Amino acid sequence: MNHHQRLTAGIVGPLLRGRFGHPYLWAESCPSTQDLLRDTGLPEGAVATTEHQTAGRGRAGRSWQDAPGTALLVSVLLRPPTASVVAQLSLVCALAVAETVEAATDREGRVKWPNDVLVDARKVAGVLLEGRDGAVVCGIGLNVNQLEDALPREARMLVASIRALTGREHDRVRLLVRLLERLEASYDAWLGNGLAPLLPELERRDVLHGSVVTVGDVTGTAGGFAPDGRLRIRSDDGAETLVASGEVTRQEGEPEAAPRRVNPARARSRSGPSHRDSRA
Ligand code: BTN
Repeated sequence: MNHHQRLTAGIVGPLLRGRFGHPYLWAESCPSTQDLLRDTGLPEGAVATTEHQTAGRGRAGRSWQDAPGTALLVSVLLRPPTASVVAQLSLVCALAVAETVEAATDREGRVKWPNDVLVDARKVAGVLLEGRDGAVVCGIGLNVNQLEDALPREARMLVASIRALTGREHDRVRLLVRLLERLEASYDAWLGNGLAPLLPELERRDVLHGSVVTVGDVTGTAGGFAPDGRLRIRSDDGAETLVASGEVTRQEGEPEAAPRRVNPARARSRSGPSHRDSRA
């Protein structure tokens, strides 16, 4: 297995069996893979990847850093039936990424609403959804082979790569192919039945559940997701607010959820294609 292969169309293309990845665009370097798909008129399932972004974007105006050739930097073009579902797509994508990370690490991939993927309280991947004219470009940044000191710094939380978690390098080509398969399966499930069938898996992986959180001017205990992807927050007086988007701050002193080790038999039984994602 060659861990230093690039993600070129010649290498990845023949391994893609589904709709996602047609067409498949690759650049040695580019400002942001999001821009390779934006306003292009390409069909749903078009994918753009690169070895290095010179102006990678994160949520909320943040930048997304990478060390060339070590991460997965992927954008997928989606054309959902209605534009109002961007928030749900964030969870659909985050779930697919969490499952991919879990299969690679044998540790539970967890979702921090609306778009972060964590293992043991460390962020391994982020999802950025950008919608325009009915199309949604879903960007995924997944830290794969970075050593600890090459990891992007996040002021808000601890970060990790799959390599840092497992102590070995991973095949990015294989990971990308699996990620696209899972993403397609999740997205198709969501197209068919909405978020509801994905909610049990999402809630099982929900990092915030039971924590006291603040989003905008709402503070209370996070209590899972509504069927439309909004975060449920219950305040002290018992009132429930559904929050559609925003930055989540966890109350000082709140313990991170204890890391859980995945039983490899269970992890394998879940490794088939399944879910989907939304907006950040
Ligand atoms: C976040 O956690 O804030 C989201 C990060 C999203 C990064 C990915 S990398 C591929 C795509 N291109 C970008 O410029 N951003 C997304």
